[in-house]
Amino acid sequence: MKGNFPINKLRELQTPFYFYNTDLLRDTLALIRAEADRYGFHVHYAVKANANHKILSIIRENGLGADCVSGGEIKASLAAGFPAKKIVFAGVGKADWEINLGLDNDIFCFNVESAAELEVINELAGAKNKVASVALRINPEVDAHTHAYITTGLKENKFGINLSQLDSVLDLFETLKNVKLIGLHFHIGSQITDLSSFQSLCSRVTEIQENMARRRILVENLNFGGGLGIDYHHPNHLPIPDFKEYFAIFHKHMKLRPEQQVHFEPGRSVVGQCGTLITKVLYVKEGASKNFAIVDAGFTELIRPALYQAYHRIENLTSEEAEEVYDVVGPICESSDSFGKSVDLNKVRRGDLIALRSAGAYGEIMASQYNCRQLPKAYFSDTL
Ligand code: LLP
Repeated sequence: MKGNFPINKLRELQTPFYFYNTDLLRDTLALIRAEADRYGFHVHYAVKANANHKILSIIRENGLGADCVSGGEIKASLAAGFPAKKIVFAGVGKADWEINLGLDNDIFCFNVESAAELEVINELAGAKNKVASVALRINPEVDAHTHAYITTGLKENKFGINLSQLDSVLDLFETLKNVKLIGLHFHIGSQITDLSSFQSLCSRVTEIQENMARRRILVENLNFGGGLGIDYHHPNHLPIPDFKEYFAIFHKHMKLRPEQQVHFEPGRSVVGQCGTLITKVLYVKEGASKNFAIVDAGFTELIRPALYQAYHRIENLTSEEAEEVYDVVGPICESSDSFGKSVDLNKVRRGDLIALRSAGAYGEIMASQYNCRQLPKAYFSDTL
């Protein structure tokens, strides 16, 4: 064992693959439940972070709901046993068949992102003689201080209904018979480590609620989305991450009416730390100015470094020799296929197992078949 990895068992498996520590996932879920239950908060796991069937099943067993952004995610959640009444459906571009899937299953709520979408949901629900429960996703114009590609709460983002248009969407609501306003939905971005952003969100939501109260519109549900970040530099640090402080912010800064229900949609913070991409060193190549460790995983298995310049801690699991410096690169025919530059690793030799840590969220699910590669397999600590 090195760093809690069952090396001998991992050595027998065909690389590259994802390895999930299910004990850590269960501990993380227990922590989430304990801290959320303290305030009666509801947690819907953001399926987009990882839709692996076993991962979804463990999350469902631990009582969380599912936050879906496509018909495919709704199907995956139902297949993993999530009750339809614990499924919320968000997304700027819901296709008619996806809305119908949600209506046929009587999901808890559609998070609606535009007036045009509201009209379509009303029409499709009407055709089925149903009334769809809807939360309006409002763009709160709060800066999440995170990577530009994953910030979502600013005016220029495509997400949500702009504050300036909220009144006209509320007017529209009053004319529609097959939609019922049950809540407001917000999401300001992902990998948020400056928790004061969530405090700013609370202030903004309070203002919005006060404005709506002037129109005598009171909503029963407030959904604050996801976004809590993880510590990519210290995958072993506990707690992973700090749900206690996170939920406490909303408890402290939101004035709720007694009947109001509070919802969250964390993805990364639930599954990020329990997953590792395991890859094997194919070659060590001495370049003109640096050494390359060429591994058998590429951005086809983990695209985050190439797409967002994201950092993932890299460890040599099978060497104890003195550290040397390497660029760790994959086999894909693109220069961006690099996992890290000038990385200190225990001396690398052909056949060594390399771990790319904190890859449980937006790892396996974003894998592709570019270069005709196979999608990675997944293995789990409790069944290995
Ligand atoms: N709710 C909504 C409406 C979202 O758009 C997202 C993420 C979440 C919840 C979950 O956010 P989380 O708790 O995971 O931060 N592929 C990128 C992340 C994209 C996040 C998109 N939306 C990455 O690898 O960093």
